[in-house]
Amino acid sequence: MTTQPVGIHDLSFATTHYALDHAVLAERLGVDVDKYYLGIGQEKMSVAAADEDIVTIAAAAARPILARHGTDDIRTVLLATESGVDQSKAAGLYLHSLIGLPNTARVVEIKQACYGGTAGLQFAAGLIARDPSQRVLVIATDIAKYELDSPGEPTQGAAAVAMLVSANPAILQLDPQSGLYSADIMDFWRPNYSTAAMVDGKTSVNAYQKAAQEAWTDYRRKGGRELTEFAAFCYHQPFTKMAYKAHRHLLESQGHTADAAEIDAAIKDTTLYNRTVGNSYTASLYLGLMSLLDHAGDLTDRALAFISYGSGSVAEFFSGTVQPGYAEHLRTDANRQAISTRETLDYKRYRELHEAHSPTDGMYHPTLEETSRPYRLSALSGHKRIYESR
Ligand code: CAA
Repeated sequence: MTTQPVGIHDLSFATTHYALDHAVLAERLGVDVDKYYLGIGQEKMSVAAADEDIVTIAAAAARPILARHGTDDIRTVLLATESGVDQSKAAGLYLHSLIGLPNTARVVEIKQACYGGTAGLQFAAGLIARDPSQRVLVIATDIAKYELDSPGEPTQGAAAVAMLVSANPAILQLDPQSGLYSADIMDFWRPNYSTAAMVDGKTSVNAYQKAAQEAWTDYRRKGGRELTEFAAFCYHQPFTKMAYKAHRHLLESQGHTADAAEIDAAIKDTTLYNRTVGNSYTASLYLGLMSLLDHAGDLTDRALAFISYGSGSVAEFFSGTVQPGYAEHLRTDANRQAISTRETLDYKRYRELHEAHSPTDGMYHPTLEETSRPYRLSALSGHKRIYESR
């Protein structure tokens, strides 16, 4: 049996209506802003308006993909999130009415912290290996929320990345090898009764680095590439400095002492969007890939490394090759516009939005019309979420 190449055929990103500047947060919390700009590598964070959630940004990310490729042969939709809106119904099902998904596709939600998007991508690759005529829409969508005034607060953010996964992909062909590492650890979690994540910050940073190193070891055991073969390393970025830390740790674990310039060359282009969007959990790694493709020089036929980490925890090290002609398929202008058109959020409204809770009485509650984006949550009624498109 000959196997066809499988990978990412198209990629699209969306973020929220609002952005909070870290200078505002630093001033309010009495923190030197360089702790954010330099220490964690974040300048702004995307913040959801009252009428936005993971469904509205997922729809906005996926719509351009359907507009370009249609829905034919999409037999599976995998939506990964750790900030889901329902304990039972898959968030992707709302996209049927919002963006017109085919009724002949299975729609499933995936959860394993920030790793869920990678699970979606790998499951999609498996389905396509079985039937290369099928395509899978994978959507990673998250709104990262920590307690106000906590160390995690400056690492909030929000984004959705939609990927069309297919045989003979136009952008990135996945290598067959991948390295895995899973362990039961309480570094970051969110009980059902909490809207904000709980985290043991320092433990989570160490757990991430250890898991990345173990996943790399497994990748090599499975016949993966040498470290020197990669043009760039796309890491999960809870904050952009984490990618630098993890890369240095990985190199040092292999007996290689890298200077700052070498690490910068491997990482910097992957961090430019995340630096202003913040943590987008499942989407973060793939936003890093989009940032790299939009900012690096020609990457044709170059190998890229991907390091996915989801607290709790699962890590995967995998790789792929950038395809000839990939640049024609990028959405660089739209990506930059999604970021530049965010409205600057003032601190008072930020706190109000953060402290707001969904009503639970089942009555009709229209939401405040705030977002300028194409989809909005218009109301909660009878315990149902009602969405509208513009
Ligand atoms: N100028 C420049 N740098 C400064 C500075 C200043 N004025 N003040 C502080 N810094 C530096 C510190 O030296 C430190 O740098 P190093 O990490 O290189 O030592 C950095 O800024 C951060 O300072 P602190 O360690 O004091 O920061 P903190 O304790 O307040 O918070 C954090 C850091 C624990 C990571 C916190 O942001 C947090 O809890 N974040 C959420 C958890 C997280 O993101 N974990 C990452 C791994 S888990 C994961 O990846 C899954 C996920 O998505 C959550």
